[in-house]
Amino acid sequence: MKSIVLVPAFALLSMAIPVHAETSPPVAPVISDGKLFAEFGGHDGLVRVIDDLFINIDADVRINTFFDPTKRDHTKAMLVEQFCQVLGGGCTYSGKDMVTAHKDLGIQTRDFNALVEDLQKAMDKNKVPFSAQNKLLAALAPQHRDMTPKP
Ligand code: HEM
Repeated sequence: MKSIVLVPAFALLSMAIPVHAETSPPVAPVISDGKLFAEFGGHDGLVRVIDDLFINIDADVRINTFFDPTKRDHTKAMLVEQFCQVLGGGCTYSGKDMVTAHKDLGIQTRDFNALVEDLQKAMDKNKVPFSAQNKLLAALAPQHRDMTPKP
């Protein structure tokens, strides 16, 4: 069952990465779906998802060395703020744009996919409905090319 569920999310990601796209917005656009934020459990639910995301990242040898533990509280707070904004929760993201935040990190597509997998696990654990998960992943997908080196 799990593999059946993971495929559409990754399919959405690859479909949403334009090859010759113009510039994408500094962060993902707001999804105007009134129910979506509630499906994540509101602000408290989103905080739990991000906490679990970083538990998964810390245990993930594919990508855990990218992250600086001294920046952890700030990074978590910025992710909550950004996802809250994207999910229509009424927050205003105050962090760096995605190009600046990930400049010079050398993130590859496989690293991006690993993080998405860790996020999916965190959303599953918190019982976020799959349709809601896929909406967030589809909104985040265009950020992929802002984080990975240009060919
Ligand atoms: C759609 C996917 C992603 C989103 C929405 C995202 C979002 C963010 C945000 C909001 C920040 C904080 C910016 C600030 O300080 O103002 C950040 C920082 C950072 N991100 Fe990402 N990111 C994504 C993917 C990735 C990936 C794939 C990696 C590496 C595997 C990564 C590694 C980092 C690192 C290393 C930082 C610097 C802070 C730290 O070390 O904790 N990000 N990201």
